Amino acid sequence: MSNVRRTPMIAGNWKMNLTIAAGIELVKTIHYSHRHPGEVDVVVAPPFTAIRAVADTLNGSYISVAAQNIHWEASGAFTGEISGVFAKDAGADYVIIGHSERRQYFGETNETVNKKVKAAFGHGLVPIVCVGETDAEREAGRVHAVIKTQVEEGLAGLTQEQFGKLIIAYEPVWAIGTGKTATGEQAEEVHASIRELLVKLIGQEVAQKIRILYGGSVNAKNAKELLSFTNIDGALVGGASLKPQDFVEIIKSASA
Ligand code: PGA
Repeated sequence: MSNVRRTPMIAGNWKMNLTIAAGIELVKTIHYSHRHPGEVDVVVAPPFTAIRAVADTLNGSYISVAAQNIHWEASGAFTGEISGVFAKDAGADYVIIGHSERRQYFGETNETVNKKVKAAFGHGLVPIVCVGETDAEREAGRVHAVIKTQVEEGLAGLTQEQFGKLIIAYEPVWAIGTGKTATGEQAEEVHASIRELLVKLIGQEVAQKIRILYGGSVNAKNAKELLSFTNIDGALVGGASLKPQDFVEIIKSASA
């Protein structure tokens, strides 16, 4: 079963960067400089304010749009929050859930991640669920324990069909925005263990379909090597996704 073909995905997480005009310019440059991506799914995640404009710009192109977060309720008295209804309404088809910056600065837990993942499916969004250990957890030899809990609790209660659609992103916290990338071997080791865990949770057939992206200082130089590993099915790219030529190079390494 290990030779199941999974279409690679390259997703750009813009974080709290780019105005509407700058976002439009970035996706136009990506599209104009690389019109035929080959067999790879490409996603960009602008700030909420730019989702509509970026989605309109990309209409009919091969690039899809993601939100970076949603609230788990559909609507109501949650000042300042945005639900899956609004993200979908603005033009998103995917949503990043449980990014380590949300866990670290905004108190997200495996429990809220689980509610958000279910809400995403409820509103027709495909969740890209982030997991990953901190430096201290890695030093303490707790990588597998931490990720097992994040996967089991974050994805609790999903149907087989939902498991078959979702995307997981392994992002070691110590590699995000630091320039310190996990080596291909280090990442593959964790990706393979996530796959094994998924096999136990939902069985071979569905587990083999799930794409597991790597994230953390992915760039135009290291992408090809990382993507060459069996269980690394794509990348969630932060900093380098803001540089059109670098992002295009990363897309090319996935489709090669
Ligand atoms: P980075 O961010 O590529 O800038 O390390 C990745 C992420 O946070 O998704």
